[in-house]
Amino acid sequence: MEQCPMSRLIIISNRVQPPTGEGGGNQGGLAVALSAALRESSGIWFGWSGETVDEFTGKIDFQRNFGVTTATIDLEPQDLDEYYNGYANRTLWPLFHYRIDLAEFESGFAEGYERVNQRFADTLEPLIEGDDLVWVHDYHLFPLGARLREKGIRNRIGFFLHIPWPPYRLLLSLPNHRELVETLLAYDVVGFQTRDALECFHDYVRNELGGTIDGNRVTVGDHSVTAIACPIGIDADNFVEASQSAAARYAHYRMRQSTNGRDMIIGVDRLDYSKGLEERFLGYERYLSSNAGQHGEVFLLQIAPPSRGDVQSYQEIRSSLDALSGRINGAFADVEWVPIRYVNRGYPRDKLAGIYRAAKVGLVTPLRDGMNLVAKEYVAAQDPEDPGVLILSRFAGAAEQLTDALLINPHSPEDICDAIAQALAMPLEERQARWRACMDNVMSQDVVWWRKRFTDALEGAAAAAAA
Ligand code: ADP
Ligand code: F6P
Repeated sequence: MEQCPMSRLIIISNRVQPPTGEGGGNQGGLAVALSAALRESSGIWFGWSGETVDEFTGKIDFQRNFGVTTATIDLEPQDLDEYYNGYANRTLWPLFHYRIDLAEFESGFAEGYERVNQRFADTLEPLIEGDDLVWVHDYHLFPLGARLREKGIRNRIGFFLHIPWPPYRLLLSLPNHRELVETLLAYDVVGFQTRDALECFHDYVRNELGGTIDGNRVTVGDHSVTAIACPIGIDADNFVEASQSAAARYAHYRMRQSTNGRDMIIGVDRLDYSKGLEERFLGYERYLSSNAGQHGEVFLLQIAPPSRGDVQSYQEIRSSLDALSGRINGAFADVEWVPIRYVNRGYPRDKLAGIYRAAKVGLVTPLRDGMNLVAKEYVAAQDPEDPGVLILSRFAGAAEQLTDALLINPHSPEDICDAIAQALAMPLEERQARWRACMDNVMSQDVVWWRKRFTDALEGAAAAAAA
């Protein structure tokens, strides 16, 4: 078994979702990854409780669930509006996913974001001891490291970004972009999902901050930070196990029964405009239009639990998918066959694993994605003797690793249509060879590998700084 790091690990993320022990439930990628990482660690997971109180008190609620200690704080409704729904999800998320058309630049959002980061720093500071390793996660908390440094914290502090880092010129459209990026210099290590994201960061540092890059070291004036590409993985052994559990086998059996011999294509995504769901439906529609012989022989199961429902762009994508799935089903369905089964619910992990396994094709077509763990889960759930085919957007971070998937341009309905046809007709030998290559990566670069790569860099960076 993997050794715990010598130092205690303090993980901080906006959302804290401790494991439930009942198969995972509907957790986002970050939550799933951190549950797995913390299960073997003796540290603390600190963040927002998901609850609001009229007035912020800074009271910390400690809990221990399935080996993970969590420490959470409540925020005010205004914090929720300005920090989470506002700056995080209406400003940074769209901009960092290349959707400048959806990004909103309100100064009140930025103020709320700063206020909440300060609140995190104020309440977290007394919990940090001796040589704790502090690891901050994601775009909600870029400034947290800098705020902790201002409070005198000298521990090693790392930051990992789960979403893409945008191209230099795109980032210039963010008011106060420079202040935001400069807060990253307070960290010892900054990790990105892909080489592409790391290079975009380098471009910004060179062009806007006048900094220099020397291997992993990024230097701006007196500040130096280690910046690495460190792709997140899934808890692969656990997922393979889940896919063979009784619940998964039962879900698989039920799914096979309900498919009635038809080939199933599966999509599983939070209901988010970055996931390319409209484009996916249009690509599938094109496949149906140009393959009349396949009507009644194939269907798409799209599982898309609603997400960030207070944000208008999310309400819009939801309505638009309701309409699009209805239109496609109306145009093609028969009394005994519906081409799209569109489901807005979450499922326990075991069950999801069984459903993945029953699908001949995994359709993962985000327009932009930091990584995309669904792609890796689909691969891990397959039957080695008769694996399905992964169709993967070249704009998902996972495409840097899963190069033997069918890589497509998610903006092109033709690409999606052709890939579906190719996947459904693919000979067993080719399916096995592609799956094996993807699976080797999923198993070797799993969540433990990711955590160790990051924490090793954090320990190494501090040693380098001390030398
Ligand atoms: P993101 O972090 O943007 O949501 P990822 O693909 O990286 O995207 O991670 C999504 C995670 O959420 C995966 O672990 C996936 O299994 C889980 N998930 C997504 N949809 C569902 C669902 N309907 N039921 C259960 N889990 C889900
Ligand atoms: O993986 C990216 C991410 O934004 C995580 O930070 C987050 O936990 C997950 O997606 C789900 O989003 P949210 O926490 O806003 O529901």
